[in-house]
Amino acid sequence: MVSLTEPLEKFLDIATEAALSAGAILLENWSEDKNIEEKGRAGDLVTRVDRLAEAEILKIISRHFPEHAILAEESGKLGETETEYLWAIDPLDGTTNYAHGYPVSVVSIGLLIGGVPTVGAVYNPFRNELFRAATGLGATLNRRPIRVSDTIDLSKSLLVSGFAYDRRQTPDNNYAEFCYLTHLTRGVRRSGSAAMDLTDVACGRLDGYWERGIQPWDITAGSVILVEAGGKVSAYDENPLVIEPGGRVLATNGRIHTSLSQALQKASAWNLQFESF
Ligand code: IPD
Ligand code: CA
Ligand code: CA
Ligand code: CA
Repeated sequence: MVSLTEPLEKFLDIATEAALSAGAILLENWSEDKNIEEKGRAGDLVTRVDRLAEAEILKIISRHFPEHAILAEESGKLGETETEYLWAIDPLDGTTNYAHGYPVSVVSIGLLIGGVPTVGAVYNPFRNELFRAATGLGATLNRRPIRVSDTIDLSKSLLVSGFAYDRRQTPDNNYAEFCYLTHLTRGVRRSGSAAMDLTDVACGRLDGYWERGIQPWDITAGSVILVEAGGKVSAYDENPLVIEPGGRVLATNGRIHTSLSQALQKASAWNLQFESF
């Protein structure tokens, strides 16, 4: 158990300040030249605005907490190695959407304390929706408390998932799961923003989310928000989630957690059909 240097509210307020400030940058630059580049792998994009928003967030976090470490998507690991405080920052989650002019992107700012996701702020500037949570303090959307859905049957659920950028190079690509769950449920959406997927489960718009090849900056903030809204976040097999590069995450309203976990295991049989196709 880490003894806190500040109340959790303080960390949450700074995460919020940074998320709102970066969100404003996403909006201000929406109609400007985005300067789109590929990061080495086909389809893995970065824009001028990802970097601009990240610089703004780093400025705010390091001004308030110069002794903390930061893991930011475009800058990598920065700061102290000894500290128990690690900020996981995605300045623009939904870059492909943003680059194409499809307005579905958020800013995601999470704080791990002693390796545990503890504070999260996710801001969607296009909907003006601010999701916030810290462990034990509850989760809110625009300052009002939120709860997960009460759907208990997988067959009546609406899910969301995503695909990692290396999906063309690996059989670990989620194609079979996506089809199998589409078959079993009312539908599977793909928003293009993992942080938004988690917050949409947190406020009950969706019942569950899963993804493989996910990064700490994609899920740290959203995980805190979902858990504080009454949901559950775990590994695919329901064991505790370890926040690590390229991990797999299963996140639900809690009620469909076991049935979705079991369905993901069964879906691997569909992989064989895909391979022989
Ligand atoms: C991506 C989005 C997408 C998910 C990918 C992520 P980015 O993040 O969250 O929904 O499917 O796995 O890499 O690159 O837009 O920040
Ligand atoms: Ca992301
Ligand atoms: Ca990003
Ligand atoms: Ca990216």
